[in-house]
Amino acid sequence: MSGPKNTTTPSTTAKLWGGRFAENTDAFVEAFTASVSFDQRLYRQDIAGSRAHATMLQRVGVLSNEDEVAIHAGLTSIEQSIEAGEFEWSESLEDVHMNIEAALTERIGDAGKRLHTGRSRNDQVATDVRLYMRDACDACATECRRLLTGLLELASQHTDTIMPGFTHLQTAQPLTFGHHVMAWFEMLLRDLDRLADTRKRLNSMPLGAAALAGTSYPIDRSITMELLGFDVVSENSLDAVSDRDFAIEFCSNTALCLMHLSRISEELVLWTSSQFNFILLPDRFCTGSSIMPQKKNPDVPELVRGKTGRANGNLIALLTLMKGQPLAYNKDNQEDKEPLFDSVDTLHNCLRAFADMLPAIEPNKASMYEAASRGFSTATDLADYLVRKGVAFRDAHEVVGLAVRYGVENDCDLSQMSLDRLQTFSKDIDQDVFDVLTLEGSVASRNHIGGTAPAQVAQAIARGKQRLKATYPASA
Ligand code: ARG
Repeated sequence: MSGPKNTTTPSTTAKLWGGRFAENTDAFVEAFTASVSFDQRLYRQDIAGSRAHATMLQRVGVLSNEDEVAIHAGLTSIEQSIEAGEFEWSESLEDVHMNIEAALTERIGDAGKRLHTGRSRNDQVATDVRLYMRDACDACATECRRLLTGLLELASQHTDTIMPGFTHLQTAQPLTFGHHVMAWFEMLLRDLDRLADTRKRLNSMPLGAAALAGTSYPIDRSITMELLGFDVVSENSLDAVSDRDFAIEFCSNTALCLMHLSRISEELVLWTSSQFNFILLPDRFCTGSSIMPQKKNPDVPELVRGKTGRANGNLIALLTLMKGQPLAYNKDNQEDKEPLFDSVDTLHNCLRAFADMLPAIEPNKASMYEAASRGFSTATDLADYLVRKGVAFRDAHEVVGLAVRYGVENDCDLSQMSLDRLQTFSKDIDQDVFDVLTLEGSVASRNHIGGTAPAQVAQAIARGKQRLKATYPASA
């Protein structure tokens, strides 16, 4: 989608703004200031905006019916040429807007020259980028939803699959794998919510703001707003042409979501290692080594983890781009596109890869279970047991600490100690202690909303399905 296509630099091309200039643009300056190599990606939105503008101008009596018809036909033929890869983009025409406008005049004559009445490239580009970002939010949201749906399915297969939970990457307490997967679900559902929020805020129409102050023609902005599917018209012409906060929001959403995907990636990389051996990543998401025949590398999660760098970079680039700009439009804003487009592609591709890959991971149940039974993961359960027998929590903590020390020195887990042995640490321990020292007993006891008990995980999944249904995009 990106990169120059059929771009030529005929030095003789007349500038659409050439009137007040006495000499040609310096060749290097022409190349340096052009954006067509990357903003041609906006051609569909640019054409849609021009169509709506022409229709509006005709309805309010500024354009004749014949002009409007000719403009629509011309724009259709231009769109077809672009899609067929036959359109000649010209760097000397600077950007996507002037390339299309010049082609229109070439194809339909003077009617093409009347299209730009009451409009500026400033409100034009602000409109194009918003239209583009609306689609980008929808496309990313669709992949995010697919991923979330896959996570619900994966979690529902593993509501009672036991694994160790970690803090400080040290074994902490037993968990169910379904509960861990539902933590990912929560993180990513918030990311989806942020996309919905950004989309709602950016769907405000700049057209009519013209260069910065509005226009003297009797325009009707509600017509263009409806034709282009915007929810509202922008309230202030200066703000409409100059702010790019919606682009920053998208880059911020991307950075946050990539941070989440990166954390999940880190877990996948650890868990596929032979040291953990918790999960199997299907071969189609891995690659081999050119020298070590035994290697199967988790490239997809590693690459996604690596992509967080550019996502953060794009966010910082846009924040920095905007901070020093006086109102209204400045050429600086042309620099918004490459970071923004890169964030769109990065987010979309990473979500797509994860939506394909995550539901396909296969937990190695035996290995997870075995790891959970090492590392004294039920020590807290023993302390809680003593509290229920009337021991103060701090004293219980101390007693269990001594038991764990004995276990470390003698290489045995709490559940492997005899009742006699356990009673040397506390007289309050009875036979029923073994109910809480098992992994199954430990997870089942965390039986409240947000807890890891299998019954709770099943309910969280059911609620998750409803919450996902209620969010955006509604129909997916
Ligand atoms: N290529 C420009 C951009 O991306 C379009 C707007 C140019 N406006 C202007 N007054 N030079 O921002």
